[in-house]
Amino acid sequence: MGCEMRKEKIYKDFKGKKICVIGDIIYDRFIFGNVSRVSPEAPVPVVEVWDEKGALGGAANVANNIKALGGEPILLGVIGKDTFGKDFLESLKKQKIESKYILLEKEMQTIVKTRLIAQRQQIARIDREKKKALPEEVTKKLKRSVYEILDKCDAVIASDYAKGTFNQKFLLWLGEKISERKIPYIVDPKPQNFPYPKATIVTPNRSEAAGFLHKEITKDNIFSFAGEILSKTDWKAVLITLGEDGMALYERNSKSISLIPAKLKEVYDVTGAGDTVVSAMAMALSSGYSYKISAEIANAAASVVVTKLGTATCSIEELIKSL
Ligand SMILES: Nc1ncnc2c1ncn2[C@@H]1O[C@H](COP(=O)(O)OP(=O)(O)OP(=O)(O)O)[C@@H](O)[C@H]1O
Ligand SMILES: [Mg+2]
Repeated sequence: MGCEMRKEKIYKDFKGKKICVIGDIIYDRFIFGNVSRVSPEAPVPVVEVWDEKGALGGAANVANNIKALGGEPILLGVIGKDTFGKDFLESLKKQKIESKYILLEKEMQTIVKTRLIAQRQQIARIDREKKKALPEEVTKKLKRSVYEILDKCDAVIASDYAKGTFNQKFLLWLGEKISERKIPYIVDPKPQNFPYPKATIVTPNRSEAAGFLHKEITKDNIFSFAGEILSKTDWKAVLITLGEDGMALYERNSKSISLIPAKLKEVYDVTGAGDTVVSAMAMALSSGYSYKISAEIANAAASVVVTKLGTATCSIEELIKSL
């Protein structure tokens, strides 16, 4: 990378890229408070709340990352017809993200993860989620939306948090449809929905990759490990993210592996780094960059968000500075 010309080019290339983000939508909530006494009702602290806020999580955080990088996300997913669903839509609106293709379903529940934070410490997390597969007719609606927007998109991201949006049958259909358009199809996976047919590139973290092959990744087996993943799939490449060890990119065509070291930073919070990786990959690949350059861009973007608290995003300006 290095030279200024190229950085200027990234800015222009990324601007306005339309990226379809389909996946599990999560609403992240934070309740901030102070504790000064123990409850008279039970041996637990009483938290006096001074602030509450909501944030986009799961596939919605991927959409938010696309936006921050200068792209135009089109988010597809399902939420419940409930109060948190309404709050979620408010948050989307605040971030100026298109909500036209969000399905509000009566029989579904908005997935909410609430962190209770007192004196800067998380003291509890309260999860609301019904582990439930999507009813067939809801999947049908999602398919109709995919049909409608695929022609307008420069890339598609599947953001799988294993909360029920995807199943093997739907993924087979999705891979088929996207491959007809010849646009990049990037998947942030979970082992249970392996092998994501016709993906261009898949970005498992260490444990997800281990889940694909039912064995651990080590420094010595990474080359054969990535090769074995590709032998079991039809992907063009796999990008295994290795946390503080950076990432490993294996391309089918060259049968070569590139190890990209993490950029050393003062790390605050690694949550959401994977969302940034998949977003930056989609932006770079749809701009026509090679897998290698795209991965380096994704690595630089991820190194920015790990220095921020909570699920965060990396702006295009921050990315260019980090490169
Ligand atoms: N401690 C760290 N220092 C520098 N970079 C990091 C660190 N942890 C993560 N990264 C960057 O973020 C990328 C993705 O991290 P990781 O492999 O932890 O993804 P992940 O487990 O999917 O994250 P999450 O699910 O929390 O979003 C790494 O490939 C690297 O570029
Ligand atoms: Mg992840």
